[in-house]
Amino acid sequence: MKAEITISKSNTISKIDNRIFGSFIEHLGRAVYGGIYEPDHETADDMGFRTDVMNRIKELNIPIVRYPGGNFVSGYNWEDGTGDKSKRPKKMELAWQSVETNEVGIDEFQEWAKRANSEIMMAVNLGTRGADEARNLVEYCNSETDTYYARMRRDNGFDKPFGIKLWCLGNEMDGPWQICSKTPYEYARIACETAKLMKWIDPSIELVACGSAHLNMPTFMEWERTVLRECYDHIDYISLHNYYGNPNNDTAAYLASSVDMDKFIKQVAAICDEVKFEKKTDKTINLSFDEWNIWFHSNDQDKKIDKWQIAPPLLEDVYNLEDAVVLGSLLITLLNNSDRVKIACLAQLVNVIAPIMTETGGRCWVQTIFYPFMYTSRYGRGTAVKTFCICDSYAAGDKKNIPYVDTAAVLSEDEKELTIFAVNRSLDNECELSLEMLGGDAYHAYQHIAMEGDDLKAINTADEPDKVVPIVKELAEKIVLAPHSWNMINFKK
Ligand code: AHR
Repeated sequence: MKAEITISKSNTISKIDNRIFGSFIEHLGRAVYGGIYEPDHETADDMGFRTDVMNRIKELNIPIVRYPGGNFVSGYNWEDGTGDKSKRPKKMELAWQSVETNEVGIDEFQEWAKRANSEIMMAVNLGTRGADEARNLVEYCNSETDTYYARMRRDNGFDKPFGIKLWCLGNEMDGPWQICSKTPYEYARIACETAKLMKWIDPSIELVACGSAHLNMPTFMEWERTVLRECYDHIDYISLHNYYGNPNNDTAAYLASSVDMDKFIKQVAAICDEVKFEKKTDKTINLSFDEWNIWFHSNDQDKKIDKWQIAPPLLEDVYNLEDAVVLGSLLITLLNNSDRVKIACLAQLVNVIAPIMTETGGRCWVQTIFYPFMYTSRYGRGTAVKTFCICDSYAAGDKKNIPYVDTAAVLSEDEKELTIFAVNRSLDNECELSLEMLGGDAYHAYQHIAMEGDDLKAINTADEPDKVVPIVKELAEKIVLAPHSWNMINFKK
């Protein structure tokens, strides 16, 4: 099989916002307790954060981390996670039916984020709570005034504000599973009024309103329209959430997951623009794909987990090679839509549907999906350039005309490097890539990294952490993509 790619350096999509390489830590399962935080662990630092986990996180180069939920946030009292740890309440956490000890809250997490070289994307509770608690939290985190909540932060030992610039107005408020879910109009009103108050406390913050919880929600599109119509002047982004999976073991269809992601992004962007034209405004609302990943492996296992435990092993998907290839192509889609998607969070980061796994009290290792994320985060920064790819296509599941080869190209800021990310979706055939670069610049390939292999179901475990790792391919005259593989090809001027 052959694929012909044409690139013209001047045919750009957008400057890529680095925040598309964000991730997510929720108070869920072992993400926090036994994940990023474990004071008794042999690698714990002075605040109880696991440094073995921190070192793996740093390899991913994550500019923002969404916190503290997720479904968790819709029942959360942020004050429970502040001040004297010995006085913090232990609570029944309804979203995941677990016990929350509140040993970690914003006081600790803001320090963890600094150590991880990351900024926080903070969510407020619009389930059991509302505008008042949200504006108090902004004051606690960001104000220097001599007022109650800013003083409370100082009394808790933090003289300087945390300076959190990006905030989510609740989480998945359309989902019946959400604590105190809302109709489109109920949510739109509370989001609008909360947004006003939060920005009055700190006008420099940016706000993300909830879009639909996923693209098959019954109110998808009506929800977005209503929220945008009510909140337009007060928000900056609308969220998209979606998880992909292969529950029926139809790999040909699964490898085309990014076609759905692409369509979803374009649909939501079109609704943003429809409302923009209705409002006759110049302001554009961009997209925050603040929950995306593969999630299906752990569904059955999770039904067997007892309720009301502290840090139960929930959502511990074990990812295989085909998941890594799919994840790589989802990243390609985010790059190709970087004109509208300015924020994206791989959900999540540690133990919970995560690239990084731990044993509580033990080892830390990385899953297959770690690698395409790491390489795209490292080399996918700069300007996204359009790739025109001519190749054969196939049909699978409910889709026709799925191109066998999925590509994105990124030009580094200094234009000295060009990186091509490519997935070969064919299950049987390798693909010979021919590349034409228009515009006179000569770039030559200096590195080809790939995730490939015969066993699509191969996984990494604590005992065999390096079973599925990227390989460095020898550079020959022709670039060849193995069947069902993810690839990164780096070029230099
Ligand atoms: O990431 C896991 C969960 O998925 C989040 O808590 C929720 O927002 C979504 O449904």
